[in-house]
Amino acid sequence: MSIRDQIIQRFIARTQKSQALTERAKRVLPGGDTRSGVYYLPYPAYMVEGSGSRLTDIDGNVYFDLLANYTSLVHGHAHPQILAAAQAVLPSGGVFAAPMQKQVELAELICARVPSVETMRFTTSGSEGTQMALRAARAYTGRSGVLKMLGSYHGSHDLASATADPDADRGIPEGLRRNIFYVPYNDLPATDAMLTAHGHEIAALIVEPVPNAGGLPLAHAGYLQGLRDLCNKHDVLLVFDEVVTLRLHEGGYQAQTGVLPDLTAMGKIIGGGFAVGAFGGKREIMQNFDPTRKNSIGHSGTFNGHSVTMAAGLESLKLLSQAEIDRINALGERLGRGFDDAFAEAGIRGRTTYVGSLVQVHWRTGDINNMGDVAAGFAQAGDLPYLLHLELMNRGVYSAARGEYCTTTAMHEADIDRAIAIFSDTLHYLKPYVAQVNEALIA
Ligand SMILES: Cc1ncc(COP(=O)(O)O)c(C=O)c1O
Repeated sequence: MSIRDQIIQRFIARTQKSQALTERAKRVLPGGDTRSGVYYLPYPAYMVEGSGSRLTDIDGNVYFDLLANYTSLVHGHAHPQILAAAQAVLPSGGVFAAPMQKQVELAELICARVPSVETMRFTTSGSEGTQMALRAARAYTGRSGVLKMLGSYHGSHDLASATADPDADRGIPEGLRRNIFYVPYNDLPATDAMLTAHGHEIAALIVEPVPNAGGLPLAHAGYLQGLRDLCNKHDVLLVFDEVVTLRLHEGGYQAQTGVLPDLTAMGKIIGGGFAVGAFGGKREIMQNFDPTRKNSIGHSGTFNGHSVTMAAGLESLKLLSQAEIDRINALGERLGRGFDDAFAEAGIRGRTTYVGSLVQVHWRTGDINNMGDVAAGFAQAGDLPYLLHLELMNRGVYSAARGEYCTTTAMHEADIDRAIAIFSDTLHYLKPYVAQVNEALIA
């Protein structure tokens, strides 16, 4: 049996209950799926329990979780203090059609920590966070256009998920697509040229300061300040999508770099594991949402600022001191370096990019400047990323099928070293298949 078939067969043998549940799900969920980012072939394993850095699937297989619900569970699963905070709220109801004190407390904490956020509003997802930040920018400038990075992802609403590819964008209105402009990440001259030509139509430039969802190309020295300067020069608002990168520093990546956007979209870690999002920034821009003002913009949401989410988020952020962030950033860097060494030692031309607690595996070597470079690695790797992911699961390590990993405060150096050893063994096992798929990937 080929290595490929062995991996898939072993996965299927270990996950029989997940397979049965997938068949049942297919009757009511298209293809059995309700969240594209967690789907992979032959079918995803259903998870039933999380505790710290461990995840258990419905068949009883246990995994070391290097995905943490796509970076949101920065303290791992079911952290006792976060659980207690959420449970303390539940007996009194948790959500009312009224403002609730916990919203004020969490907003105060976030505004104190994130330097450019003077005032903010809560949403129920990061997608709504970017949606409303862009709405705020368009309302403030009176322009409709948005400038995005090619290959970026900012959530599931039309403007955020649009790409420059008409096939991928089926269902997104043509009128909206015409208002979206694209430049490659890390390319200041292209950005300057685009803003020179179209700045008068563009309300905002939106960027993940380091595009985790785009495969983690790292910002060149001076790039983010360059974007800030170009936005000033062309009178366009700068929006940072810090839905993920907020975990890199107590005040988000903006605090680490000192480059301050006009508006920030947030999510994931600020909800302590519950559905959350937020947007905020300069008071002058955000005051368009002040209901006491004439012509204020309405922004509702039945579950915005749910007290359970707010309580869990407050506890989660209080636990996430700069010292703890420094510790998980060091763990992330250890993981990234370890994976790089494993590629070199196995004689496979792969590499990682990493920043703090975020790590991405690439099936290529050389510079990775933007999402095009990330995609080029995946294009030459065929099904290798998918098989690596599946075999890591067979060996008890959970990650994203697209090669994304993160560390959490529930982890220690020994856990990271064990994961690196498993990764290294998996690469050795895969090597003959790598040679078959693409000889050029063998060093
Ligand atoms: C960079 C970025 N922005 C926005 C979002 C959307 O957040 P949500 O899934 O909470 O809607 C995500 C989700 O993964 C993300 O990675």
